[in-house]
Amino acid sequence: PLMRELLGMRELEETIREAFGLRQVIVIPGDADASPAVKQELGKAACEVLNRSMGKDDVIAVTGGSTLAAVADQLRSSSARKGNWFVPARGGLGESLEYQANTIASMMAKRVGAQYRLLHVPDLISEEAYQSLKQEPNIQDILSVIRQARIVVHGIGDALVMARRRHVDEATVQALQEAGALAEAYSYYFDRNGHVVHTMLTLGLRMEDISRAEVVIAVAGGKSKGEAITAVLKFGHEDVLVTDEAAANEIVRIS
Ligand code: BG6
Repeated sequence: PLMRELLGMRELEETIREAFGLRQVIVIPGDADASPAVKQELGKAACEVLNRSMGKDDVIAVTGGSTLAAVADQLRSSSARKGNWFVPARGGLGESLEYQANTIASMMAKRVGAQYRLLHVPDLISEEAYQSLKQEPNIQDILSVIRQARIVVHGIGDALVMARRRHVDEATVQALQEAGALAEAYSYYFDRNGHVVHTMLTLGLRMEDISRAEVVIAVAGGKSKGEAITAVLKFGHEDVLVTDEAAANEIVRIS
């Protein structure tokens, strides 16, 4: 039965890899919605990808979220990572502390003996704050580092779940619903066709940085995220997907 299960995973990986033209897909057995252990396994698998992708002097931008927290939890490295820098993909003072991108970037750096820099701005800011923070030399400095990221590791969420978790106002929630927002990743909201339908005002990685990054790794699992993951894959800037069986089955069913 174990052999059959593994064969099943390999088949799911290959189907998704081909359908979306990805470099690599990793599917682990189970459903992260149903079991925290599966989320830890997602984290472990993502760490292997990250360890293989990391060079000597890379900038690695990471988002927040419970899945990325699992990646940080599992991260170990046998080689020297002193020259690498971990940075948050964007500000994150909207989420609870353990799920903030800053926390995750610093934790990952410490675990592998790398360096880190933090971005101390709220996740969602007003136009006014945005314009003035952008002028701050300290912030410009860290933003220029973030935007050089060669590797991006990020989570994917259901659009409305993420909007609520970030406490966005009712008008925005409604706008998201009307626009058909289904998925959220790196502060952008996507509809089922993978079109960006909403962008949050936030400092950090921009779309052009994502397109430019050499290795974009999405880590997301659970049946409930199948549609959201599919939407982000359709957007088409991912290189590697680490997911679980339940989400993978949904992705295959939908696409
Ligand atoms: C956020 C990321 O912090 O976590 C998002 O910035 C992602 O891109 C979300 O959608 C996923 O969170 P979780 O807890 O479901 O892994």
